[in-house]
Amino acid sequence: MAIRKIARMGNPVLNWVAAKVADPGDPEIARLAGDMKDTLVDIGAFGLAAPQVFESVRVVVYRLSPRLIEGVEETADPWVVMVNPVVTPVTDEVELGWERCLSIPGLHGKVPRHQRVRVSYQTLSGEDVSDEGEAVHSVLLQHECDHLDGVLYPMRMTDLSMLEFDAEPGHLAHDLAKGEAIWPVHRKLVDDWPGREQWMG
Ligand code: NI
Repeated sequence: MAIRKIARMGNPVLNWVAAKVADPGDPEIARLAGDMKDTLVDIGAFGLAAPQVFESVRVVVYRLSPRLIEGVEETADPWVVMVNPVVTPVTDEVELGWERCLSIPGLHGKVPRHQRVRVSYQTLSGEDVSDEGEAVHSVLLQHECDHLDGVLYPMRMTDLSMLEFDAEPGHLAHDLAKGEAIWPVHRKLVDDWPGREQWMG
């Protein structure tokens, strides 16, 4: 197990279409998934796609946590490893929501995403799994699986004025003040913003 270096936006590996995994049971894939978990634990983050650690293969590791979704219970093993995941929207309903990415440190942006998706994937033992995600879970699945096709969240944005620094979360603070549902991890950016009283009243 090891902590891996994260590729940042501009590195070509993040724009490649990642290769399908021929054998999900390959010990190298299990080792990669283990390293991705270690890396997420080290950073305190929730989701990572293999191209972000310079491995252009279709593997995603994520965990759901109360820090990400209110009401989700902390479990002993919150980890999901998806090999060759395929995401399909269940509804046409699209909503704008704030996202960050480990490969784009220091920024966040408001991105349109399907509110409900189905995902099919293989486990490390080669079992076929089908799952559904809604709201934050749905956004996470779309964000991570986009990485496998070389797509980063700014490429999905329709209004680039909503791309801003974590240290100047003006639009995010405005949404919070309007009463929009903001993930706990993003709310913290506003709490930590020294200028917020000056701008938000
Ligand atoms: Ni990302």
